[in-house]
Amino acid sequence: MTPHISAKKEDIAKIVFMPGDPLRAKFIAENFLTEYKLINSTRNMLGYTGYYKGERVTVMGSGMGMPSIGIYSYELYKFYDVESIIRIGSCGAYRKNLSLFDTVLVESAYSESSFVKTYGFSNENTMHSDESLNKTLKVAAKRNKLELKTVKIHSSDVFYRMNSKEYVDISKKYDLSAVEMESFALFSVAKSLGKKASCLLTVSDSLVTHEVTTSLEREQAFTGMMKIALESLLIK
Ligand code: HPA
Repeated sequence: MTPHISAKKEDIAKIVFMPGDPLRAKFIAENFLTEYKLINSTRNMLGYTGYYKGERVTVMGSGMGMPSIGIYSYELYKFYDVESIIRIGSCGAYRKNLSLFDTVLVESAYSESSFVKTYGFSNENTMHSDESLNKTLKVAAKRNKLELKTVKIHSSDVFYRMNSKEYVDISKKYDLSAVEMESFALFSVAKSLGKKASCLLTVSDSLVTHEVTTSLEREQAFTGMMKIALESLLIK
């Protein structure tokens, strides 16, 4: 047990899928996994371990923002011997060429966050996902005829910026296609511990067109992203 996870070590699989929302973790277990069991409910950060087509996987919420995913990913890698974490989340589009419901694979995350400096790992502002995990996710997408764009994203510490147009400069300067709030921390924790991390995101809103999605639409788009993540478990 750790301060934030009450599971037994053997109850957590080597690969963990992390949606931000713990209720999303519950939904995934109930709809996609067999023989699943609840392995964590500390702070209601629900986690389940089960099987997809015979492959063991844990799915657990990360919470929102870098401090939250920083805590859970560190404890999973360090104390539960987790090898790989795939974040499965949503993002806001910075570019017109990203449409609502598109699924993207995050190649790298730029951030102005102090997370990685404070953590003590690096002074860099860009962190990369794991190439071998990305390769597997791309193969899974192709085999299932699902489109997957590879992008660079912005991991922001702030959801509501006072200057709502600030993103235009940031996205141009660093060539960023979308924004979320966790990948930069996840990738740096993984790298620092010699582990693997990647991230799939569904576009849920657009900062350019101001379109937003309904919950039903998000549900359907999310299924494509989930299929890529789950089917990647079968690729050896
Ligand atoms: N900003 C930050 N994180 C997000 C957004 C956004 O617009 N949409 C989904 N995650």
